[in-house]
Parts: sequence; C-alpha cells; structure tokens
Amino acid sequence: MISSGLMEKPAVAASLLAADMFDMGASIALAESAGADWIHVDVMDGSFVPSITFGDKLVADLKPHSRLPFDVHLMTVGPEHLVPAFVKAGADTITFHLEASVHAHRLAETIRAAGVGCGVSIVPSTPASLLSELLPVVDLVLVMTVDPGAGGQALIPACLDKCSALAEERERRGLSFLLSVDGGINVGTAEAAGAAGADVLVMGSAFFSAPDPAAIVERVKLAHRSGRSGRR
Ligand code: DX5
Ligand code: ZN
Repeated sequence: MISSGLMEKPAVAASLLAADMFDMGASIALAESAGADWIHVDVMDGSFVPSITFGDKLVADLKPHSRLPFDVHLMTVGPEHLVPAFVKAGADTITFHLEASVHAHRLAETIRAAGVGCGVSIVPSTPASLLSELLPVVDLVLVMTVDPGAGGQALIPACLDKCSALAEERERRGLSFLLSVDGGINVGTAEAAGAAGADVLVMGSAFFSAPDPAAIVERVKLAHRSGRSGRR
C-alpha cells in the first residue's frame, strides 16, 4: 500500500511514455537521480486508447534496478485481466479506468488484497461524482488532465476543478487516498495542480525533454508547494 508519508510532500512521477526507449535503464536511472519520486508506467492497449505501449515484462525487468515505486496506469479495456501479471511484475500501485470497469469495487478489492496500492482514474469527460462509492476503497485517484492516449498535450483546466472537488470530498469524509494529476503537468501548471489539492504530479514530456530534468523537478515541486499553501 502507499505510505502515508507521501501525503506530506509533492511527489513527482516520471512517466516513461516520454522516455528514450533505446535505453530504458538510463531513463529510470535519470528519474531517480533527478529527484522524481515514482516511475509512472502508461499501459495502452490499442483499444481503450489508440496506441499500444508497455506490458508487464517491462515492469518486471526494470523494477529490480530502481528503488522508486512503480505506478502502473492501465489505459486498457478489461483491466481485471491484466492485474495479476502486473502484480507479479512488481507494480507498487495499479490504477485502472473507471470507464473500463463495470465491477470496479471488486477490482479495487482484488488489487488491494494482492498487497498493491489501488488507483482509479477518470478521463476528462467523466464527472468526479461517479467515484463517490469507490473513494473509501482506493489508495489513489488519478485525475486525467488530458484525454488519455498521448503525451505532450495541454492540460485541460476544468479537470483541476474535479481535483479540487475530490480534495474537498476527501477532507469532508475523512478519507486518505492520494490525488494524482496526469497530463500537461509542467512548471507552468504545477502551481494550479497544488492549489487543486493534487499530491502526485505525473510528468512525461516536461521531464524527459528537459535539458536539466533535476532543475525541472525542483521547480515543479516548488510551484506545487506554493499552490498548495495558497489553498483555502
Ligand atoms: C497520457 C498518459 C500520461 C502521459 C503524460 O495518456 O497517461 O501519463 O505520459 O504526458 P505529458 O506529461 O507529456 O502530458
Ligand atoms: Zn498516465
């Protein structure tokens, strides 16, 4: 499960979608040395989203070479069929899409019973209110701030309003899930993400295309903290 200590500080999850596939070992080493806190693995199946990316073998092969938690984001139909393989591969959290799961409550319980943190994600067109029944049984809510399927898109500001609403609901109901935002996160958007109550910032292109990724992580964390401290 996700350690509660992570709630105290902004966590940056470096998304391998934007990494150099030629040398994934170097990419995860870079994430670690540059100060990222998690490795985010975008699993796309060519059906839920048009592209096809990574499978469980990538996680299994990379996991022993990093001390960072592996945060697996399943953008797939039938996520329940993939969960056992990613558990076995060593995923620390597995996030599935609410839009892809009829029996989301059962799936959340299955993931947690395997000793893995459970996340649920919603695309920009899904209202946050649809998560209401699931919030007590998940460790993480991943609010997509772009339509999933590709890196390098601009953040959709209205998605941060959903993040704010979820942060308020978390407080009101005394829940403890982490809030993660994914898509278009960079130095310019991290402050608004912090103000919206996000704990985890997934960053792909802004991290891996930066000439100095460590400086970007530092600036993003600073901006996030400043947004967070300004929250009402
Ligand atoms: C998009 C993925 C993201 C992606 C974000 O469908 O879920 O994790 O890597 O990329 P950037 O940070 O470039 O928007
Ligand atoms: Zn993702």
